[in-house]
Amino acid sequence: MQIEPKSKQVGELYRLMISVIVPRPIAFISTVSKNGILNLAPFSYFMGVCSHPPTIAVSIIERPSGPKDTATNIQETAQFVVNIVTEEIAEKMNVASGDYPPEVNEFEAAGLTPLPSTLVTPPRVEESPISMECRLVEMSKVGESPYASYLTLGEVLLFHIKDELWGDGEVDVRKLFAIGRMSGPRYTKTRDIFEMQRPRIKRE
Ligand SMILES: Cc1cc2nc3c(=O)[nH]c(=O)nc-3n(C[C@H](O)[C@H](O)[C@H](O)COP(=O)(O)O)c2cc1C
Repeated sequence: MQIEPKSKQVGELYRLMISVIVPRPIAFISTVSKNGILNLAPFSYFMGVCSHPPTIAVSIIERPSGPKDTATNIQETAQFVVNIVTEEIAEKMNVASGDYPPEVNEFEAAGLTPLPSTLVTPPRVEESPISMECRLVEMSKVGESPYASYLTLGEVLLFHIKDELWGDGEVDVRKLFAIGRMSGPRYTKTRDIFEMQRPRIKRE
């Protein structure tokens, strides 16, 4: 079958996108409002886009009523922390994803612990084994309202990685138990890992 986006409603396009691009990693983002209220929410329109310097991209879809709290807080403070979601905190991440009003602190709502960051004001999630302290590089609007997205580029200023996950210059992903988002309410575990060596092609 073929689908021409112009023939579809926004909700149908959203379902299409999140069932085609799978699995997606989840950025569990902590921010602080300009009034000092903590915010925590998951985002799976998320990827690494540069290693030099380490830079990530996350896309925050607006609500018909306006930007999500995460987008507002990042715009106003230029700081955020990306926490990696594991099987252990999956259900709490899901609780934090509720459309709470700005005055709700989702750390409290989900029962997660804010741990002070080193270089930025937003705290990290103590229960997450990997956190990345980020500064906003650029935020740009993609698409049309309603439901346009705020594409957010962040430079990682500091990685926090639990010692027991570190081995041989990288995170041992077999010990991480990260989860990924599939379509709708479906998620995947990362226990079924296999290896392939890339072909070695000599180039000038
Ligand atoms: C696993 C998961 C992934 C999500 N990914 C996104 C995303 O990439 N972009 C987005 O705008 N919302 C995403 N959401 C929904 C937000 O988490 C939700 O709208 C949240 O209430 C936003 O909170 P805030 O207003 O405090 O920023 C996702 C939800 C879940 C459960």
